[in-house]
Amino acid sequence: MELAGKRIILGLTGGIACYKAAELARGLTKAGASVQVVMTQAASQFITSITMQALTGRQVYTDQWDARVDNNMPHIDLTRDVDAILIAPCSANFISKLAHGACDDLLSTLCLARPAALPLMIAPAMNVEMWQNPATQRNVRQLKDDCIGILGPEAGEQACGETGMGRMLEPEQLLEEIIAAFQPKIMIGKRVLVTAGPTFEPIDPVRGISNLSSGKMGYAIARAAREAGAEVMLISGPTALATPHGVHRINVQTAEQMYDVVMSHIDAQDVFVAVAAVADWRIAKVSEQKLKKDEHGGFPQLQFALNQDILADVAALANKPYCVGFAAESEQLLRNGEAKRKKKGIPLLVGNIGHRTFGKDENELMLFDDNGHTHLPLADKQKLARQLIAEIARRTS
Ligand code: CTP
Repeated sequence: MELAGKRIILGLTGGIACYKAAELARGLTKAGASVQVVMTQAASQFITSITMQALTGRQVYTDQWDARVDNNMPHIDLTRDVDAILIAPCSANFISKLAHGACDDLLSTLCLARPAALPLMIAPAMNVEMWQNPATQRNVRQLKDDCIGILGPEAGEQACGETGMGRMLEPEQLLEEIIAAFQPKIMIGKRVLVTAGPTFEPIDPVRGISNLSSGKMGYAIARAAREAGAEVMLISGPTALATPHGVHRINVQTAEQMYDVVMSHIDAQDVFVAVAAVADWRIAKVSEQKLKKDEHGGFPQLQFALNQDILADVAALANKPYCVGFAAESEQLLRNGEAKRKKKGIPLLVGNIGHRTFGKDENELMLFDDNGHTHLPLADKQKLARQLIAEIARRTS
């Protein structure tokens, strides 16, 4: 439960994206947060307070003059004991009100009356022309100056039928952002490059050799690094996973492609985390045509060639980043882990304990460095990824 114990005000303003706020409220609640919904009158035109109440298990507030609040000051009462305010969807009108400090309804008043240290984030949602209008852009700049977090928007098809910037982020992405907001910013100013997933080495146009890596651990590490404030690039083999929000992802297929992309971006990096299960061998000569089974009078004879070791080559660079490797050893992890760390010439090697981690949501790790080894017990991969990023941050600060 990544938001256990967190109290969040979810503000809804007028916009069709209110329907997504229902799913967001559910996601926040499932993640352990207690969610207090506050809606504007305009939001009530798009979704009912009953829906939001049912999803959060709490009465919804819409009115500045709500007799349910003993002292009749909901704008003060509601904001004194919370950890964050998120306005999703946030309309152009509400952005304008925030930029000018207007307070003519409950939601805008509680935003103005919030304690100075209470984080306020908004997820803009509006028509593309409204978003691009210089007045809105001016207001958004003002909000940034006022340290209000702006989540999105993104480009895409809009409910009005037009296409462009202004779509609200998806509930899942907003949930990631809220969780990120509560993580310690221990990697601010750092650039981190992560490889993840399997590689696919073609045999012919329709066949190839791959492995069972799901990419989950690498993606979790990329997300954790970004949550910690780093600028993150993820170089990924074929996976079915969604890109963590705010991470720059480049897709590759083969080990050779992964090598080239890593090498062309490595100069700028502070940290390199090689999580990908890179194929050690490729097919020496990939057939241009599909191999036919009767052509060989038996089985095709495949010749293999050795792939370059991305991690070892990065670790050998003169201006190398801090290098972290992974090892999937099926036996003798303690001995093999330390030996592999030395062989690769890296300061930190992460051993998967047990080799059946592929595709699972949980993992158990052993970290090897100059001082010996550290055990990270069995846990959810995202939790482990945050622990690992904390270990890397400690060693690189
Ligand atoms: N790795 C890499 N490029 C390769 C092979 C591996 O960058 N061509 C990286 C992996 O991303 C991982 C680490 O090296 O971080 C360890 O990979 P592993 O396959 O366990 O080690 P090998 O050196 O290939 O040793 P072996 O297969 O003999 O166990």
